[in-house]
Amino acid sequence: MGASDVSTARPLGVGLLGLGVVGSAVAAGLMAGRGELAGEGARPLVLRKALVRDLRRKRTVDLDPGVLTTDPAAVLDDPSVDVVVEVMGGEQPAFDYISRAIRGGKHVVTANKEVLCKRGDELFTLAAEHGVRLLHEASVGGGIPIVGPLSSDLLANRIESIRAIINGTTNYILTKMAAQGAGFDQVLEEAKKLGYAEADPTSDVDGWDAAYKIAVLARVAFGVSVPLDAVHREGIRGLEAQEFRYAATLGYTIKLLAVARREQGGLLVRVHPALIPSSVPMAKVDGVLNVVEVEGDLVGPLWLQGRGAGPDATASAVLGDLLRIARGAEIRKNVAAARSADRLKLVSIDDHECKYYFRLVCKDRPGVLAQIAGILGKLQISIASVIQMDANAERGEADLVIMTHPSLERNVQKAVREIAALQVVARVASVLRVEAY
Ligand SMILES: NC(=O)c1ccc[n+]([C@@H]2O[C@H](COP(=O)([O-])OP(=O)(O)OC[C@H]3O[C@@H](n4cnc5c(N)ncnc54)[C@H](OP(=O)(O)O)[C@@H]3O)[C@@H](O)[C@H]2O)c1
Repeated sequence: MGASDVSTARPLGVGLLGLGVVGSAVAAGLMAGRGELAGEGARPLVLRKALVRDLRRKRTVDLDPGVLTTDPAAVLDDPSVDVVVEVMGGEQPAFDYISRAIRGGKHVVTANKEVLCKRGDELFTLAAEHGVRLLHEASVGGGIPIVGPLSSDLLANRIESIRAIINGTTNYILTKMAAQGAGFDQVLEEAKKLGYAEADPTSDVDGWDAAYKIAVLARVAFGVSVPLDAVHREGIRGLEAQEFRYAATLGYTIKLLAVARREQGGLLVRVHPALIPSSVPMAKVDGVLNVVEVEGDLVGPLWLQGRGAGPDATASAVLGDLLRIARGAEIRKNVAAARSADRLKLVSIDDHECKYYFRLVCKDRPGVLAQIAGILGKLQISIASVIQMDANAERGEADLVIMTHPSLERNVQKAVREIAALQVVARVASVLRVEAY
């Protein structure tokens, strides 16, 4: 198409599924003319329809009354809609609507990590079969451009690892717990009041959201499909205020990490709170900020930090995908296929090796350490340091904090079970992995 065709180019019709936080910001961007930024020769983007549940709800954008609909068919079966933007969230009905759009020959842009994690195999296959694009930059890291670079600029690399802080709610909670010395429940309530945590915070605090996102990223980076149950997942609910104080004393910060790394001849995908050295840049990514660190064999380490959520940052990613479609760039069949020569197998955390932090609430009496050291030694877990922290004279108990040298996960779990059964140990308060940098 030549430059003279621009004014006559038929616009690319956009249909939104959802007009909430993200959908409204995308609609506002289109109304403000951002749909014309794809450049010379590209088709301008025009908003045609927006699906909502409740027509009477007040919106942050003013749309023509004819644009809003509660009928999915008005978006999915409208021939003037060329691209469907799914910003509803959840697995269903999002999966059905996306599938239907693809079958109808429409390109799809989605911000929905849950549906991509749970049903990505089916959706990417369907998109390839129908020769349409399924783009999802906003599904991980909000405004941070990570899916695009992994699927194009970094294609020549063998990706060694992705390590990220990709859940703003938990990062906010952990930052506050560290700064205020406050307990989890108190900080969670504050986060809810400030709008940083949902009324039902399960998806964030139990690590589901981060697990969806790292599974989605692993598909793009390593060309493997990662089922949710193959992601080792632990949330932050069990963390107590002492951990942050003790970790700081030892030179560490606690973060919820999402990691996909080549090890044991395969790929280990894991989400869990970890001790990270307070001196590394990742320890300083605070509040609701996100960061993704990528290690490629040619490019080396890369670092992308930014707003992982919020209407404008997320709309930046959605609109970027829309403009890419408007430019008519080559159809990327699916990145998994591009990298599939690798055929990586997914491995279990049982064989993962790292340093560990233990906090044991023990009876304050002689001989305790000898019993614990005996169990650790038997399981080839070597102790790097032992510090007795706070004592509770009334109860005759004290916190014993043990740092280990690199040890095997399966041995550590066995040791924890044996230590918990000791008479001199009131409880195993915490077992945290120490991330190597
Ligand atoms: N919020 C962020 O900062 C952010 C960042 C990155 C990715 N995302 C992802 O973007 C997606 C949307 O998030 P959001 O925060 O914008 O959600 P939201 O504010 O809850 O908006 C959801 C929208 O979808 C509509 N909707 C939901 N279920 C529907 C159904 N069954 N039929 C018709 N309409 C339906 C709602 O309609 P009503 O308005 O009528 O209720 C609402 O307009 C999610 O996948 C989320 O994970 C969000």
